[in-house]
Amino acid sequence: ISLKNFNSFGIDAKARFFVEINHKDDLVELFMDPQWKALSRLVLGGGSNMLFLNDYNGLVIRMNIRGIEHRISKDEVFVEAGAGEVWNDLVNFCIAREYAGMENLSLIPGSVGASPIQNIGAYGVELKDVFFSCCAFEIETGTFKTFTKADCNFEYRESVFKSELKGQYIIVSVKFQLSLTPRFNLKYGAIEQELTNRGITEPTLKDVSQVVSHIRVSKLPDPSTIGNAGSFFKNPIITTKQFTRLQANFPEVVNYPAGEGLVKLAAGWLIEQCGWKGKTVGNTGTWHNQALVLVNHGGANGAEVYNFSSQIIDSVYTKFGVMLQREVNIIS
Ligand code: EPU
Repeated sequence: ISLKNFNSFGIDAKARFFVEINHKDDLVELFMDPQWKALSRLVLGGGSNMLFLNDYNGLVIRMNIRGIEHRISKDEVFVEAGAGEVWNDLVNFCIAREYAGMENLSLIPGSVGASPIQNIGAYGVELKDVFFSCCAFEIETGTFKTFTKADCNFEYRESVFKSELKGQYIIVSVKFQLSLTPRFNLKYGAIEQELTNRGITEPTLKDVSQVVSHIRVSKLPDPSTIGNAGSFFKNPIITTKQFTRLQANFPEVVNYPAGEGLVKLAAGWLIEQCGWKGKTVGNTGTWHNQALVLVNHGGANGAEVYNFSSQIIDSVYTKFGVMLQREVNIIS
């Protein structure tokens, strides 16, 4: 089966085996059979954060568990969603009911089940700010386990599911802790600017969601028309000492505080300074409004995109001495 419609890069890779999971018990049944357990496997949500380098010679497990439940407790709301729910559908569900916390995360592509894995984030909010717990299937034992927020070790675009426990668990549902009282996070400059442009002084959740969606659409390519996986690289975090040296040579370097002794750089800026912004190379390239996003202009294969990303890493390293890390999962 071709995975072209199952990855937002639109790479035409094939899966040797493909299974769709509609209920968490389907996982128990699937892994009771040792032949499936023995294969290499890939869990697929929206496929919006991966790049296939070639055909996948194993089992692709497409998570399609649906359902959203919500429970109000005083000023708090607990919302639990199946891993296969589309992330933005969940955001809209919450906005429509005036459950606060998700608004800055509007329009992020992908599924609910994938959201904790890399602690998705945008416009000053990260998944960990609304995450309460998740339920995951342990492949080895065939049992389900609940992970609290502390268990997940969330960091910038990181969690335990990407590190220590990589490949061991499959997330089946995620529970969020939201509020009935909005606590707006408007510190990202463009949000404030756009609210002002619209003459909004006392924003509602819906206003913020609409403004965030507007900003995303203006900066980021729509995967349904131009293949991409959002930011291709992480924003690099370096030590204050490294940063001081870098800033001496490049006084304009865009930077943010990243905790004690650490500075986060804007990878998009580094890439743009190397002259890559809006460049097309073969069927691939960077997006004209956001150099951090690599795109498939049509017909690109995974290797082509990957090789292009290596060229970018090399040139950023040569110019700035900073090594970019890929944020997108490379599947081979
Ligand atoms: N910049 C440039 N040139 C570019 C792009 C960015 O100079 O081509 C500089 C600008 O100074 C800009 C700054 O970089 O002010 C930051 O850019 P932006 O606000 O677009 O955000 P980002 O750091 O490039 C991150 C996330 C995005 C998220 C935005 C908004 C990562 C890897 N990416 O991008 O997340 O939407 O912030 O919060 O952290 C994703 O993870 O796929 C993603 C799209």
